[in-house]
Parts: sequence; C-alpha cells; structure tokens
Amino acid sequence: MSTAHSKKRGNEPRHFLNLDQFETSSLRRILDLALALKRGDQPFGKDRPLSGRILAMIFEKPSTRTRVSFEVGMKQLGGDSVVLTKADSQLGRGETVADTARVLSRYVNAIMIRTDKPQKLTDLAAYASVPVINGLTDSTHPCQVMADVMTYEEHRGPLKDRVVTWIGDGNNVAVSWIHAAAHFGCILRLACPEALMPSSAVIEAARRNGARIEVVPDPVTAAREADLILTDTWVSMGEADAKRKEAVLAGYQVNDALMALTRPDSLFMHCLPAHRGLEVTDSVLDGPHSVVWDEAENRMHVQKGILSWCLL
Ligand code: CP
Ligand code: NVA
Repeated sequence: MSTAHSKKRGNEPRHFLNLDQFETSSLRRILDLALALKRGDQPFGKDRPLSGRILAMIFEKPSTRTRVSFEVGMKQLGGDSVVLTKADSQLGRGETVADTARVLSRYVNAIMIRTDKPQKLTDLAAYASVPVINGLTDSTHPCQVMADVMTYEEHRGPLKDRVVTWIGDGNNVAVSWIHAAAHFGCILRLACPEALMPSSAVIEAARRNGARIEVVPDPVTAAREADLILTDTWVSMGEADAKRKEAVLAGYQVNDALMALTRPDSLFMHCLPAHRGLEVTDSVLDGPHSVVWDEAENRMHVQKGILSWCLL
C-alpha cells in the first residue's frame, strides 16, 4: 500500500505523459490554472495548495529550465522536491525503472522524469502509484509545448487558424507540437529536411485526431505569412554525429531574411538552450519578434498548472 497521497482518477494516478493522450478540456484546464496562478489568483482557495507534497525529479539528461521551474514551482505551491540523477542514484547501476517507481511511490506524491527512451516513461507510469510527469524523452517534450501555447495565447490570443511553422530538426519538441495541433486548431507547417522529418506515422495519427499539418520541407515557403516561427537545437541531448546533422540543417537557420517573410506581428519561439549562430541568429533571438524569455518564464507557470492538475 502506498503511503503517498496523490488524488487519483478511479484507481489510476493522474499522469502527464503525452499530449496526444489528453482530452482538449484537460489541457485547457491546465492552461487556465497556469494563467490563474501566474496572475496570483488562488484557484484552489488557498495560498499553498500543495503543502506537504513532495515531487521526485529524475534527470537522466541535463536541464536548467525544467529542473528549476519544477523545483521553484513546487515550492511556490507549498510543496518541495528531491532530485535524482542517473550518476548518483541506483538507476545508474541498473536498478530497473519499475522497481524505482515502486520505491519512490512510497516516499513522494509525484515523479517527474527526463530520460532518453520513451519506454522508460511508460514503465515508470505503469509501476508508479503516484502521478508521473514527462519532463522530456527522446520522442516528446509536452511541458515545453504547453508553455509555448500559453505564451502565444498571452501575446496574440487563440491559436485557432494561426499558421505555426516549425523549422529545422523534426525532434521531440516538434512531435509534441504535432500532438498539440490536434487540440488547439492551428495549422502546423513542418519545414524539416526529408531525413529529419517526424515520422509519417506520428503525422498521420495526429491528422486522424483532427490536426491540420502541412509538410513543407522548404523553409522559405513554410515561413511565408506564418504567425509563429519555432525552432530548436539541431543536435539534441544524447545525439551522435553532430557534424552530419549540422550540415543537413545548414539551410534551415532562422535569420532576419526568413523572419521578413512572416506576418508583421509574428512571434518567434525557441525552447532553449539556443545555439546562437546555428539554428537561430542573435538578431532574431534578441529581436522584436522573439518572446523566448516569456516562453522560458511560462515553463514555471505551466509546471504549476500541471502539478496542481495531477495532484489536486
Ligand atoms: N527547454 C528546456 O527543457 O530546457 P532545459 O533543458 O534547460 O530544461
Ligand atoms: N530537442 C532538445 C530540447 C532541449 C530542451 C533536446 O532534446 O536536447
């Protein structure tokens, strides 16, 4: 019997795994909570609604934003957190994710994991009796994309019918945007080299869920009249062969010439960390379209929305 006190849906903990598994109404609820908490409202009628709750955070990859925003967010809600890294926990010596999930569930009220293989996230959720939150895998990064959606809506209103153009590597963040497109009504253009395009199975599944996705490998065509330009590092954490990827992506830099093709009130986002001079120039990252610092700040407000949705 677990000693943790997570509120469960039926007998199941309320996990935050991937955006394609959600009802749109739940994602909207998380965004509403994030906005309310950012405004300083008390949507649960008290100042510290997660008082006494503890979040464990497993990091098998590095992090700045995810770690600090979850830790500070948890504290602001009245709770606390503990961090385990691969190097200094038994995960690094081969203890299984399933056994780790069973043990941590006896100590803490929720578990966030940043890892490589998506199967580890699935296993953690299957064996934990407390909510599990996806803090990034090789395949997806849903917390990030929720912060992106929040940031767009704060600056420009609903995403519905807006043209969102993803430029560069069809990576984990891009896949979570593909999942998000089915919920938020935008037109998502994917401008990735053919070899780095997200899989057609992912794109087709999202289309069956109602996503409007255009595959437009040429970045110049894809940027025209876009409302939002997104990009990310060309080489994600843990990837080998950086030089080959950088060569394939050389024509996919977001620079002033590309931004000039977008709508005058377009926004630019990047989940960060950025590699200035590669996927994006200084002039765009620090320029008038860029909302990357608001986007980074909103990671924390969204984490608070996710934590309260999972636990309250
Ligand atoms: N965007 C993001 O997840 O940043 P970190 O890797 O610093 O957590
Ligand atoms: N695609 C990047 C995101 C970092 C937040 C990576 O996985 O390294």
